[in-house]
Amino acid sequence: MGVLEGKLVVLGVSGGIAAYRSCELARLLVKAGARVQAVLTDYAARLVGPLTFQALTGRPAEVGAGGALAQAGMDHIDLGRDAALLVVAPATANTLAKLACGLADNLLTTTVLASRAPVVLAPAMNTRMWENPLTQQNLARLLALPRFRAVGPGVGALACGEEGVGRMAEPEELLEAALAALSPQDLAGRRVLVSAGPTREPLDPVRYLSNRSSGRMGYALARVAARRGAEVVLVSGPTALQAPPGVRRVEVQTAAEMARAIRAEAGRADAVLMAAAVADFAPRRAAGEKLKKASGPPALELVPTQDILAGLGERRTRAGRPRVLVGFAAETGDPRPAARDKLRRKRLDLVVGNDVNLPGAGFDVQTNRVHLVDEAGDEELPLLSKADTAARILDRVVALLARRASRARGPRRARA
Ligand code: CTP
Repeated sequence: MGVLEGKLVVLGVSGGIAAYRSCELARLLVKAGARVQAVLTDYAARLVGPLTFQALTGRPAEVGAGGALAQAGMDHIDLGRDAALLVVAPATANTLAKLACGLADNLLTTTVLASRAPVVLAPAMNTRMWENPLTQQNLARLLALPRFRAVGPGVGALACGEEGVGRMAEPEELLEAALAALSPQDLAGRRVLVSAGPTREPLDPVRYLSNRSSGRMGYALARVAARRGAEVVLVSGPTALQAPPGVRRVEVQTAAEMARAIRAEAGRADAVLMAAAVADFAPRRAAGEKLKKASGPPALELVPTQDILAGLGERRTRAGRPRVLVGFAAETGDPRPAARDKLRRKRLDLVVGNDVNLPGAGFDVQTNRVHLVDEAGDEELPLLSKADTAARILDRVVALLARRASRARGPRRARA
């Protein structure tokens, strides 16, 4: 279950032209399971109809000093107290200034003042207003308080016809910040390296050998790890997916390129999760020119690729890093025997095994059904979204890291 499920989120909309893009954010928050109460300033309501927010959230939107909630016996104090999160998108220069001074002259500012919940700010304004030292000071003042975080603004075409900094962050990015604000930060300060997707082993300049991996499981791991505070590097084979917000993506094509990229990053990583479907064999040589049909069926000579994970397992026993190694076993049939075998052979801490023939657990679907196999045994997870599966795998990583840390502390304490 997602962290926004059933939570009350106040979506404060102040009067910038980006207000229309908040409608999409309202939709995404609702889709993530939140109960969304839109609170518009008077000027925002002149830019976007409150009815649009009502239709998207299923609750009457409040405007200016409010009213609808008051009729139901609720005021800004109730709203501020009951909200799990406040998102102010767009946050105009004017609203940022008011919030920084603790002003409370409409329902939006009053609710922020009357609440202790975290606040995600999405500044959006003309570049010169954004760059004005007063705006910067106001924002800095808010961000000095742990409750507040800001996302954006980005660079782009602005409504005033200019091009520059001031464009409101994408709604997907704001949703991610909302999820992060309510997620445990149990991976803060940790470096997590994830691999994802298939590799492509070229036969000639236009053809390659590959597999059906979509990359979704690895991308979900990277996204959720970043949400929980980790510094995440995602080494990705070719996929159709967008890099998750806050994640550094390194794009590769072949198993050899993936091996190089992983080796370059693994020494700094606390945990490595190899979710990529790395080719086990690659053509000995890729033809320099396109193979022609008239030359007849080509003889394919395949050679084994390097086993990246096994290599990390071997090196770790000497250097102690990465502290946690997680492998994946996509099997047809019961994945447990293969998972146990990989755990031992590659010296891993955890293997995530799945039977790709089971409904909802194969390629290109949004769900997965996995076994978590470690030295203590195996845990079968139910059919879950890939994001929820990722969260359960990362719970194990957090526990393994904590165990390593206490083991490392042990002898030192003994010496003292
Ligand atoms: N892996 C790797 N380098 C490779 C191949 C696989 O690091 N060259 C990693 C994968 O990312 C995955 C795990 O190893 O985490 C899968 O192990 P592997 O033995 O390759 O699985 P299969 O190819 O599915 O195994 P087998 O054919 O032995 O059942």
